[in-house]
Amino acid sequence: MQTIRGFSISQELRERFLSAKSVFVLTGAGVSAESGVPTFRGGGNTAVWKGMPFDVISSARMVERNLPAVWEWFDYRRNLLKSLQPNPAHVEIARWQDRFENFTLVTQNIDGLHQEAGSRNVIELHGSIWRARCVTCQVRFNILKDEARPDACLDCGDSLRPDVVLFGELLPPDAFEHAAEEAAHCDLCFVVGTSAIVYPAASLPEIARTAGAYICEVNPERTPLSNLCNEMLTGNAGEVLPLFG
Ligand code: APR
Repeated sequence: MQTIRGFSISQELRERFLSAKSVFVLTGAGVSAESGVPTFRGGGNTAVWKGMPFDVISSARMVERNLPAVWEWFDYRRNLLKSLQPNPAHVEIARWQDRFENFTLVTQNIDGLHQEAGSRNVIELHGSIWRARCVTCQVRFNILKDEARPDACLDCGDSLRPDVVLFGELLPPDAFEHAAEEAAHCDLCFVVGTSAIVYPAASLPEIARTAGAYICEVNPERTPLSNLCNEMLTGNAGEVLPLFG
């Protein structure tokens, strides 16, 4: 049994990990914390931008009222991300995709660090900071690290907005349905670095649990989901997940 200060991976979890056929992983901002990406909550704080709580600046209402201000916030976050690298948690999760018969990675993160670590077919529930979308024809455009983002739709010429799910908006239905389908058929579910208060993402481990999966939470803090989990590994994802390798 491998240990790190303050917790150990149980024999049961180790055995289930070794014998699992279908593994489902849901990640949140905490999985990127050790890469230097600020989380939104946790540690008792919430992110604020120019005096505005992040859920105000990151909202559909703000897109209608002041799109340039929304871009300013996402440009700031994108610039932060440019120099950041995946951490051992991202790297370990990427390794798992070839280890199990069926593997699903669902993230609430928009930072693209899972993909940079080599994860394929990542279900991005909340979109990506590395894409823009036309407000009229909905065409999507990639935003490249070393280039200025396009300032208008190259198809219809209308304004572009971040291709991110903002507060007050619904998730892309196909992404959530696909994630829920996989959650309902997994035998082992990891919940890594999420405060588990934003729905419907936080309902995915509940779906997995109802379907009989073994649920393991990785977080330095307890969350509203902790009581539902079979096992909680109280620590930082970048230290905990490599222990499974
Ligand atoms: N390893 C694992 N977990 C960590 C680490 C770490 N190194 N550092 C912090 N955490 C945990 C915190 O304890 C907290 O529970 O990660 C969680 C981060 O929570 P939030 O900041 O609320 O992020 P998340 O759950 O992803 O938020 C969900 O809300 O703001 C919206 O759209 C945004 O996708 C986001 C959604």
